[in-house]
Amino acid sequence: MPYKGKIFLVTGASSGIGAAVVKLLLEDGAQVVAVSRRKIAAENFSGRPRQNFQSIQCDLADFGSLDDAVGRAIKNIACLDGVVLCHGFGVFGSLEEFSVARIKNQIDTNLTSIMLISRLAIPIMKKRGRGDLVIIGSESGLKGGKFGAVYCAAKFGLSGFVQALRQECAASGVRVAIVNPGMVDTEFFDHLDFAPGESRDNALQADDVASAVKTILDMPAGSVIDQINLSPQKSVIRNKSQKS
Ligand SMILES: NC(=O)c1ccc[n+]([C@@H]2O[C@H](COP(=O)([O-])OP(=O)(O)OC[C@H]3O[C@@H](n4cnc5c(N)ncnc54)[C@H](OP(=O)(O)O)[C@@H]3O)[C@@H](O)[C@H]2O)c1
Repeated sequence: MPYKGKIFLVTGASSGIGAAVVKLLLEDGAQVVAVSRRKIAAENFSGRPRQNFQSIQCDLADFGSLDDAVGRAIKNIACLDGVVLCHGFGVFGSLEEFSVARIKNQIDTNLTSIMLISRLAIPIMKKRGRGDLVIIGSESGLKGGKFGAVYCAAKFGLSGFVQALRQECAASGVRVAIVNPGMVDTEFFDHLDFAPGESRDNALQADDVASAVKTILDMPAGSVIDQINLSPQKSVIRNKSQKS
């Protein structure tokens, strides 16, 4: 039970990568405060002590709610050991298809909310002299892709945010890292017109990304993994409208 007695805040916990991170942390004995818009039943992580799990419902694109719900949760946690930010979504298309509201929603959710949660959590961890902030970025934060201008802008923004923040926090003992996955087989693609190819090696699994997060958390004090980039072995995109 390597995380027994440790407390983590995890966003995007209702599905995909965030749910896999929550499962892994609970299995290893941690307490988890899980954030998402949907309510998460403790039974989703069956076999783990119910008292180790708390679900908070919050739309993180609504900054007033974020400040209220996440701020309150963080204040109630006496010893915050880590924050893993896994929430986000993608909308793709030509730039001219994006209204101001759609651009704003994507940047607010995928970038600004991450800055705001970090801003709430970092001072608490700085006071303790330790803690981990791990952010799920994307391969889209490393290389721009067709029809992903707004999504890539948010994810590139995260890369810069993490690079700067890790320097700012180093002296205080707080570690800041980013994980940049390629395509992962999750609900992310449910409302998109494309998805990874159907072969097992065309997409990462959410558990693969959670393992990368664990590798970062498990580094001995004083050592930091700044960034992990991971991809499916064969990157194949399937257009859902094309019959196979
Ligand atoms: N899947 C991929 O191929 C892939 C690749 C690279 C990077 N990523 C990144 O990985 C992260 C997780 O994605 P995933 O693949 O795990 O997708 P997912 O299964 O769709 O999970 C997304 C999570 O984000 C939460 N979320 C979305 N908007 C939110 C909001 N406004 N407020 C609060 N929570 C919100 C969702 O919860 P609710 O709906 O309950 O709010 C859900 O728990 C995202 O940042 C995504 O950009 C994904």
